[in-house]
Amino acid sequence: MAAVMIDGRAVAAKWKEEIAGQTREMIERGVTPHLAVVLVGENAASQVYVRNKENACRKAGMGSTVIRLEEDCSQQALEEVVKGLNQDPAVHGILVQLPLPAHLDEAAVLRLIDPDKDVDGFHAMNSGRLMNGQKGFVPCTPLGVMKLLEAYDIPVRGKHAVVIGRSNIVGKPMAMLLLAADATVTVCHSRTQNLSEIVRQADIVVAAVGRAGFVTKDMIKPGAVVIDVGINRVDGAIVGDVDPEVAQKAGYLTPVPGGVGQMTIAMLLHNTLEAVRLHGW
Ligand code: GUN
Repeated sequence: MAAVMIDGRAVAAKWKEEIAGQTREMIERGVTPHLAVVLVGENAASQVYVRNKENACRKAGMGSTVIRLEEDCSQQALEEVVKGLNQDPAVHGILVQLPLPAHLDEAAVLRLIDPDKDVDGFHAMNSGRLMNGQKGFVPCTPLGVMKLLEAYDIPVRGKHAVVIGRSNIVGKPMAMLLLAADATVTVCHSRTQNLSEIVRQADIVVAAVGRAGFVTKDMIKPGAVVIDVGINRVDGAIVGDVDPEVAQKAGYLTPVPGGVGQMTIAMLLHNTLEAVRLHGW
């Protein structure tokens, strides 16, 4: 049996519609949710992501500002921009698009963002809250994955979830969220031995490796839920970390594009509204 293809576009569209309604209500009550995005340099993928974020804000009726800094901008100049946004009462959410050019200290910049405006959930305060099971901003991609699983009534409790990838943006927070949902979680990474064997034991696989077609059919237990977080460009096309043949064996599969990617932006808008609420609205 072929896998059920998880329609991230449809689930995200529902979220966006609801978010647009909540945004209208906030505007009626006198506050316009506003996201500020800081983009440093000319990274082509980042330019596309930031444009998509701006468009999503506009469609939801939210305000957005993109602050573009030159590739060679100084650490101090970048930090001044973040400090200004922290102080600006009209800005509810702040996002510094990653990766930053190599000469900049990413950790120092993320540390500077007001944790109550940290809609990416990358500040140590928010990752700590996630780790401790406290309320805080949760990184958008793994949060979107959890919402997709919920939307398809896919049970997580007691299941063996294998996360491939250990980044701060996806792998680590993903593992924490699955654990909080009572899954038994294994995290695999580039140094993992017998990776295929481990993945074959998974009821739920989350692939966040950044390598096209990394997860192949032979690694998948029949009927497993396979979530593809990868966004790889191959000969001009966008493909995931999961080989499309996996659809012949998995129970559920997220396509790329049209799967998780759509949810990331929906969750960014969701987090921005959460930031507005945190500020007393
Ligand atoms: N670069 C790749 N993904 C992300 C993300 O979710 N947030 C930010 N700020 N940068 C990214």
